Amino acid sequence: MAEQKKLLRALAGETQDVPPIWMMRQAGRYLPEYRATRAEAGDFLSLCYNSDLAAEVTLQPIRRYGFDAAILFADILLVPQALGADLWFVTGEGPRLSTITTEADFAKLGPASDIHETLNPIYETVKILSRELPSETTLIGFAGAPWTVATYMIAGRGTPDQGPAHALREENNALFEALLARITEATIDYLSKQIEVGAEVVKIFDSWAGSLKGEAFHKYALTPCLQITQALKERHPHIPVIGFPREAGDQYVGFAKATGVDCVALDNSVDPEWAAANIQRDGCIQGNLASRHMVSGGQELVDETRRIVNAFKKGPHIFNLGHGITPDANPDNVQLMIDTVRNG
Ligand code: CP3
Repeated sequence: MAEQKKLLRALAGETQDVPPIWMMRQAGRYLPEYRATRAEAGDFLSLCYNSDLAAEVTLQPIRRYGFDAAILFADILLVPQALGADLWFVTGEGPRLSTITTEADFAKLGPASDIHETLNPIYETVKILSRELPSETTLIGFAGAPWTVATYMIAGRGTPDQGPAHALREENNALFEALLARITEATIDYLSKQIEVGAEVVKIFDSWAGSLKGEAFHKYALTPCLQITQALKERHPHIPVIGFPREAGDQYVGFAKATGVDCVALDNSVDPEWAAANIQRDGCIQGNLASRHMVSGGQELVDETRRIVNAFKKGPHIFNLGHGITPDANPDNVQLMIDTVRNG
């Protein structure tokens, strides 16, 4: 049967007059209804693990804007938590985790096969969403890429240069690789379960891929993405995969072919005309309006939105931001972006 959903058609390689559109972090603090539900849940992690409320915040931007896709509301750091790391969020600062820098720390983690008990509420959220989403809206599941997840597990927090993870990679490569392998295995099982219960697409977020260069990029960004994509497609042959090796620069070229992903998501720094010429020939592109336009709005937002739509109009394209929308964004600017994409 011919695929009707716009997002799935783009991922299957179809060029459309109006690209499908969704937005990273579309359920988030810029929306008053999100802030209200988050207050009801208590804190961020309680919201992630409360299936009814997590489904509710996933649906909020769909109701308000009619995006073509909904992304499951959860976080990439739930996988480390399910493996046994401690995880908490410090308001105004970000995530904190127990650190993994020695064999003894690593030995405390559980096996990948044990993650589901912790992650069951997430699968429940997916089930609710696949019942409740409008029939034209695609449900996207996701996980962090092993390198990005490892950077948080090793440092115990976000870091500007991923220094602690690079240090471990050099000083105790065997431990670093064992950690990456454990995360990779858990990620395959986690995404596979999301697909079994209703995710129609999965996205792999490698937010810190750009700090890996040359052979290290190949070994720790490209190869894990290939392993995850291959394993998922063995189990679920028709599942489309979106890869997001953020700030990969020139290393974006050939990434889709080398990993088997159906689409690459581009960050803010990539020139759309360059990407149309060098990356889109391998398949679908997602991106890449700079998130700052959601704060500043105006004619610049309209012009830049049109430039991106135009650059990618000769091939399959999913319109999105180059990074997540920020809490200071104006919800009216999101509507202006959508109207510009849909009405020209
Ligand atoms: O896109 C979506 O709306 C789906 C849900 C989603 C969240 N985080 C919700 C969230 C997704 C896909 C993520 C991915 C994620 N989480 C990444 C990769 C993408 C990226 O942003 O680079 C990373 C690195 C994380 C880890 C994480 N989670 C950090 C560093 C933070 C703190 C920074 C911040 O924005 O506050 C979070 C918290 C987080 N994850 C929020 C949301 C909506 C804000 C939490 C709140 O309500 O206070």
